[in-house]
Amino acid sequence: MQIIKEKATLTEVISKLKSKDSSIGFVPTMGALHEGHLSLIRQAAAVCDVVVVSIFINPTQFDNAIDLDKYPRTLDSDIQKLEELNLNVIGFTPSAAELYSNNIQSEHFQFDGLEHKMEGKYRNGHFDGVGTVIKKLFEMVQPDKAFFGEKDYQQLQIIKKLVQCYQLPVEVIACPINREHNGLARSSRNERLIPKIRLEASFIHETLLKAKDKFGIESANQITQWVENEFKAHPYFKLEYFEIADSETLKPITNDVNGKLVRAFIAVYFEDIRLIDNIALNY
Ligand code: PAF
Repeated sequence: MQIIKEKATLTEVISKLKSKDSSIGFVPTMGALHEGHLSLIRQAAAVCDVVVVSIFINPTQFDNAIDLDKYPRTLDSDIQKLEELNLNVIGFTPSAAELYSNNIQSEHFQFDGLEHKMEGKYRNGHFDGVGTVIKKLFEMVQPDKAFFGEKDYQQLQIIKKLVQCYQLPVEVIACPINREHNGLARSSRNERLIPKIRLEASFIHETLLKAKDKFGIESANQITQWVENEFKAHPYFKLEYFEIADSETLKPITNDVNGKLVRAFIAVYFEDIRLIDNIALNY
């Protein structure tokens, strides 16, 4: 498997692939690869000739220095996991200076207000950082299809908007949330949970499932109140937000669903470890 660190080498490899008409799938990651990433790569390999997997912890999308500092860094085992897949994969592992051409800064984007909701409200500048790195990576990798997990549902909507705004020639493919055995949405941050808490974290998905059962019977406000009370009573997890929103505009739903597809979104802390999840409520 080829591992590329430099943009110039990547450009050469990509133009050779393009000249042979090979289709390119892309799975951007920040490393600490887990089954969720591997399933995205398998889905990409099933429909593309080659899959580029970037492993890059993007500093501009972190609003919190501790979170960036503690983000798991496991490059050697990540590369081993990619090799074990036995698929046609290219690893792209640039340094920050290389990827950002020594100018590590975010561009400023407007995504029709999607960027101000939920994650955007609580993580200042986060989506500017995500938009900046994804735009750069799309320009470098030139993928035909890019694969994103629905765990980061808001990110997915924002990337679709980025592609639309800049008319980027890439198809964004949404892939269902991959969960651990107890229902916890897979995330690199789960590695930071001690085993007892990782088990207890099933509570997050269980709460979302109960909220789904209540949807259509109780109002969005009543369900939100119920979730807030559940977390107030919980010994380990602190709720940052729970929102019921239109799955496309991410605008909060109050009472009138009016044929909209609706999702519930949640962000929870255990100590300084932040976990997010979401669920479709009426589809
Ligand atoms: O979801 C992630 O891991 C990151 O936000 C991404 C898409 C790789 C951009 O850095």
